[in-house]
Amino acid sequence: MPKNQPHGGTLINRINEDYDYSTITQEIEIDQIALSDLHLIANGTYSPLTGFLTKTDYQEVLEKMRLKNGLIWSIPITLPIDEMKASLLDTGKRTKLLYNGELQAVLELQEIYKPDKQKEAITVYQTNDLAHPGVNRLFNRGSVYVSGPITLIKPPKKETFFQYRLNPSETRKIFTEKGWKTIVGFQTRNPIHRAHEYIQKTALEIVDGLFLNPLVGDTKADDIPADIRMKSYEVLLNNYYPKQRVCLAVFSAAMRYAGPKEAIFHALVRKNYGCTHFIVGRDHAGVGDYYGTYDAQRIFNHFTSDELGITPLFFEHSFFCTKCQNTASIKTCPHEKKDRLILSGTKLREMLKNGEKPPAEFSRPEVIEVLIQGLQRN
Ligand code: ADX
Repeated sequence: MPKNQPHGGTLINRINEDYDYSTITQEIEIDQIALSDLHLIANGTYSPLTGFLTKTDYQEVLEKMRLKNGLIWSIPITLPIDEMKASLLDTGKRTKLLYNGELQAVLELQEIYKPDKQKEAITVYQTNDLAHPGVNRLFNRGSVYVSGPITLIKPPKKETFFQYRLNPSETRKIFTEKGWKTIVGFQTRNPIHRAHEYIQKTALEIVDGLFLNPLVGDTKADDIPADIRMKSYEVLLNNYYPKQRVCLAVFSAAMRYAGPKEAIFHALVRKNYGCTHFIVGRDHAGVGDYYGTYDAQRIFNHFTSDELGITPLFFEHSFFCTKCQNTASIKTCPHEKKDRLILSGTKLREMLKNGEKPPAEFSRPEVIEVLIQGLQRN
């Protein structure tokens, strides 16, 4: 299949603002994560999904990292609800999906099924430790899943990140207008630092455009808030990136912290946005010590490049080296650990909260300024 086709060949569009729901009586109240998934199914970001996973698709995703139709899919996109609520629902009926009591979409309720959450935790997150933020969320959400195709009636209001909320048909159009044939996607949930900039710009040396796509959905409490992170990207793009080669847009999904499995998911989603390449660095989508530093790269070996339809670009751990006097990686720097400036996310957040400035070699001063101001305001 040619590169930058949507996953499965067709960009899904399940938005119909004129949908007639007047005769529907059954309803389900959904949580914020389901709402973000709903938006991303409807606008094609999760193509080929047209709704929340059926039981067979769910089982196939856990066991084989594939949908029933054979297409690669690594993160179960499901709609969990309470068991009590489920007992009152009829399958085969159209069902209104409400958020905070407001109608969002209609679900053609196909099935109500009981997931195996232990198995889901072990296969998706490789742990059932409740200290893992993704596992914790998994066990805290409803114990029964409902499946079926959806139609979104109320597209998300563009209240926040207005100009950065683009759906895949819009990003594809932008890439075409810019004349880009090869585009590298970058996922992040952190404020941008020099190592990020280094791997992005190294990738940009071999492709036409960079699609910077920070995740702004639900993250764990101690991650830096999305609005502050977005300001850090803006200030960096304005000062240090060639405007005609970069497109910035938000990815409104929740972070799963599922490491390798989420790396595959992140790549497929960027393929839907129109990317031909995707950056996977060290411990992609990881948290704590649950995954090996390069597990999220190795998992790509399970699939052929044809069936993935997007080329991963792998980067080794990068840092500023005081002897090289530049940013480098363990692949390109011959010096010792003591010469390398490496700051953990936790240490960085601690310094910022105390108003301390991390060294300019770690993060550009303009970015640090934005972060300190943002965090002191919070
Ligand atoms: S992630 O959880 O969304 O992966 P993060 O913002 O930390 O969050 O990383 C974004 C991307 O940059 C990921 O592909 C990650 O592997 C990569 N990355 C982050 N820091 C480094 C680093 N120091 N060296 C190499 N790759 C890195």
